[in-house]
Amino acid sequence: MKDQDTQFVLLQDDHISNDSGNRPFQDVLATRISRRKAMAGGLAAAATTFLGGAGVVLAHGRGKGAAKKPAKGLPLIGFTPVANADGNGPLPAISPDYQFQVLIPWGDSLDPTATPFSYPPTADEQARRIGIGHDGMWYFPLDQRRHGLGGAFPAQRHGERSELGLLCINHEFGTTSHVLGKPLPESLDDVRTMQHAHGASVVAIARIDGTWRTVRSRFSRRIHGNTPVSFSGPAADSALLQTPIANPPQRTLNNCANGYTPWGTYLSCEENFNGYFGTTGPWTPSAEQQRYGLTTNGFGYAWHLFDERFDLSNPDYRNEENRFGWVVEIDPTNENDTPVKRTALGRFKHEGVAIVVGRGGRVVGYMGDDERFDYIYKFVSDGNWNSLRARGMSPLDHGKLYVARFDDDGSGQWLELSIDNPALAARFADQAELLIHARIAGDILGATPMDRPEWTTVAPNGDVYCALTNNSQRTVADAANPLAPNPDGHIIRWHDADDHVGTTFTWDIFLIAQDTHGTEDSYADPDGLWADPDGRLFIQTDGGQKDALNNQMLVADTETGELRRLFTGVTGDEITGIAITPDRRTMFINTQHPGNGNPSLTNWPVPNAVPDGVTVPRDCTFVITRKDGGIIGS
Ligand code: FEO
Ligand code: CA
Ligand code: CA
Ligand code: CA
Repeated sequence: MKDQDTQFVLLQDDHISNDSGNRPFQDVLATRISRRKAMAGGLAAAATTFLGGAGVVLAHGRGKGAAKKPAKGLPLIGFTPVANADGNGPLPAISPDYQFQVLIPWGDSLDPTATPFSYPPTADEQARRIGIGHDGMWYFPLDQRRHGLGGAFPAQRHGERSELGLLCINHEFGTTSHVLGKPLPESLDDVRTMQHAHGASVVAIARIDGTWRTVRSRFSRRIHGNTPVSFSGPAADSALLQTPIANPPQRTLNNCANGYTPWGTYLSCEENFNGYFGTTGPWTPSAEQQRYGLTTNGFGYAWHLFDERFDLSNPDYRNEENRFGWVVEIDPTNENDTPVKRTALGRFKHEGVAIVVGRGGRVVGYMGDDERFDYIYKFVSDGNWNSLRARGMSPLDHGKLYVARFDDDGSGQWLELSIDNPALAARFADQAELLIHARIAGDILGATPMDRPEWTTVAPNGDVYCALTNNSQRTVADAANPLAPNPDGHIIRWHDADDHVGTTFTWDIFLIAQDTHGTEDSYADPDGLWADPDGRLFIQTDGGQKDALNNQMLVADTETGELRRLFTGVTGDEITGIAITPDRRTMFINTQHPGNGNPSLTNWPVPNAVPDGVTVPRDCTFVITRKDGGIIGS
């Protein structure tokens, strides 16, 4: 989503929906924790204790234990960075040690033999083409022998899994003027086009003669704003997920960041769903609707004028909004799969979910709720994920949900959101209602209001990082959110007790963006994060950068705090989404809303890569490789 705190905001969400007044420590230390101090103290000692304890998801070769050192004599981050002076142009810039190519721009067909994109798209066309608002994604390797591509693909060599795969990618949002070429929808058909531009894509891609391209596959499909979905977990049968008239659950919207599971599925996270709802008649918001930011005109999409499901004042569709704000599981290698909304993970503005396997094989998911003064959550499955699946149960349906309280002494508590807690039983009828209104449960338990939690990621040594992108409206600092206001954001880091399944943690501040301004490491508004197996942290930005920079991706050394800029995007975009091949020689990242969709600012990627002559800017993926074929980030 276009950052809320920058001058570029077109679809404003200025609402603060947390009025709980949670300020667990009235005498909080307003002391700002500097980068240097964070490195020297606190968590560094704790991490030593825990090193080697964390089992990390193995789906892509991430190993157990402490961060590995690179080969002797080689720096962890050896590339020449993009200088400030080179990071503000009309074209993307990349380290001279790296190169990039453009892949799957908005409107490309899933079928490489289909006709080129025609702008603006019809609803039917958009449903078959790559959506807009490229965001979270993951690469699922394919085995050519099992998923043959016929004669078009050369015989695969060792490392083939890194040359043929399914890219699952989220399509968060697009402005109406960008998608339709006019400021507002004028028909239900226009609304359908918008809805079909949202959701996710599963698209088969391969490296052929050194270039990545889409290839035909039965697995390639679109999941969009009118795709049937199902609900699972404790709230699946709740009356609060039913509308008064027959109305099967459909749609996934505002698919922001993502996760992936050890059993090979993709998790797509619904964020600013409130923006699509509005009213055509009298409506008095409930306390629950207010807490989730629902208003009479949303973010101005005006879908409710043509699609009554999005009309909060239509009694036939009462509760429709409760069907959004979930983590959606998608099986990329089952083209007949119905996406499942996993209610055990709670309903809020899910940014993403970082999955890790903790003690006893329990699957753990760390999640941010991206709103000013909202919370960080974690889910822990009740048992070993393999055993649960062997019994036909999803590990994501059976577990406990917690919300974080960051104490000012560097410790923290995971507070369980359970109906067995009398304070929550006094407010909610059952666990289903609690999960549907998880934010309110967090308010009651005294969770710590954070500066907009965006992506989380788990490093191999078990440290968890979360980007707190900014909060211009904070007036009272606390130790975990030490700047008031906080226009440029920071990154917090914690380490859970008991190999991710405990209820306590230690934490520190890893980086404060403001500290970098005026230096060659300058960045602001951290958003996308990914920790690699060697101790690097990839940081992507979304917001008004300082030092005249475009939005960007940097690489940090998690031990020393050293930063280097690997990539900068184009004017008006954000850089978001990270996927990597198993050999870590190819990385995929995205530009979202280049030029904020305005062709007078940029027509990226025309004329550089798209041969079909469409001259509106198009969100797209960048394929990044080292010129020497080395590990990405090195
Ligand atoms: Fe979709 Fe909070 O970024
Ligand atoms: Ca975004
Ligand atoms: Ca953001
Ligand atoms: Ca984001």
